[in-house]
Amino acid sequence: MTIINKTKPTVLIIGSTGQIGRLIIEALSQTSELQVRLSSRRLEQVETLCAQGQDVVYLDLDDPRTFAGALAGVDRLFLLTGYTVAMLVQSKTLIDAAKKAGVQHIVHLGIFGEWDCTDPHFAWHQMIERYIEASGIAWTHLHPNYFMENLLGIAPLKDGAFSMFCGDRRLGWIALKDVAAVAATVLHEGSAKFGGKDYWMSTESLNGAEVAAILSEVLKQKIRCDYKQPDDLRELLMSGKIPVEPNYAEAGVEFMRQVMDGRMGYIGSVRDDVQFVTGKPSTSFKQWAIENRDRLLPNN
Ligand SMILES: NC(=O)c1ccc[n+]([C@@H]2O[C@H](COP(=O)([O-])OP(=O)(O)OC[C@H]3O[C@@H](n4cnc5c(N)ncnc54)[C@H](OP(=O)(O)O)[C@@H]3O)[C@@H](O)[C@H]2O)c1
Repeated sequence: MTIINKTKPTVLIIGSTGQIGRLIIEALSQTSELQVRLSSRRLEQVETLCAQGQDVVYLDLDDPRTFAGALAGVDRLFLLTGYTVAMLVQSKTLIDAAKKAGVQHIVHLGIFGEWDCTDPHFAWHQMIERYIEASGIAWTHLHPNYFMENLLGIAPLKDGAFSMFCGDRRLGWIALKDVAAVAATVLHEGSAKFGGKDYWMSTESLNGAEVAAILSEVLKQKIRCDYKQPDDLRELLMSGKIPVEPNYAEAGVEFMRQVMDGRMGYIGSVRDDVQFVTGKPSTSFKQWAIENRDRLLPNN
């Protein structure tokens, strides 16, 4: 069901069913000042959400024929792509379509990278940012660092241990609820306040031992970190246990390699813009662990 309500701005959320998208939709559900439009590439999902009375459209980033209908009447676009090199062509074609559809503001979910970084996945996101800027549409670029939620996904706790694939190097961590709060605030306020700005989200610098110490305290049991190497990540990703697109997998291994050899040493730094946007302090790793205790523990 497509709703075009010109009394308030329409915001289209790409990745509505993913971990960030869901949190953004939850955050925006508090406001009546926006028309929030969900999207999915799965027809059954579209039908389910439609039956719940949601404004939802069918949009497959791999099929540009679905873009015009999804973008009709959209003022602000949240652009998120999945873990795949296809993000390049997906974003290029969607940005072109957004321009034709008259979209006024694109909020892009990118990465925490220096401008000249050479990791492929980071470079793909940066090329998308430059393409958005060249489109002439107002933009806001979001730069989250390493998700705390990776401890529930790619590197979960198991038998009292979790793995880090960059040895004992530090990473800058960010809670997804903070990423979503920043995105929701920017989408809500629009480009007049947030256009042409970059926001960095790396709120706590911790290595594996420091993460293990916090988890041990919060979960009230001994948790240890298995320090692993980038090649161990390659082995895991090639094992087929985690479905991952091969180019993205290679880029993930290269990322860990560059964190280890120092080319991406800045990944271990803090740069916290959360409060500048939301007015609220960011979530500490300990607070996140307390809030996610039940999700961390079932894997043990
Ligand atoms: N993990 C990290 O530490 C980290 C750090 C910085 C930045 N990032 C960035 O975070 C982004 C991923 O965010 P996430 O973790 O929220 O992703 P996610 O949970 O995997 O969700 C991806 C979303 O995109 C949708 N999607 C995938 N392919 C699509 C297609 N062809 N057409 C339409 N929708 C499609 C998925 O829909 P379905 O439900 O249909 O699959 C899902 O809703 C990536 O761009 C990554 O570079 C990650």
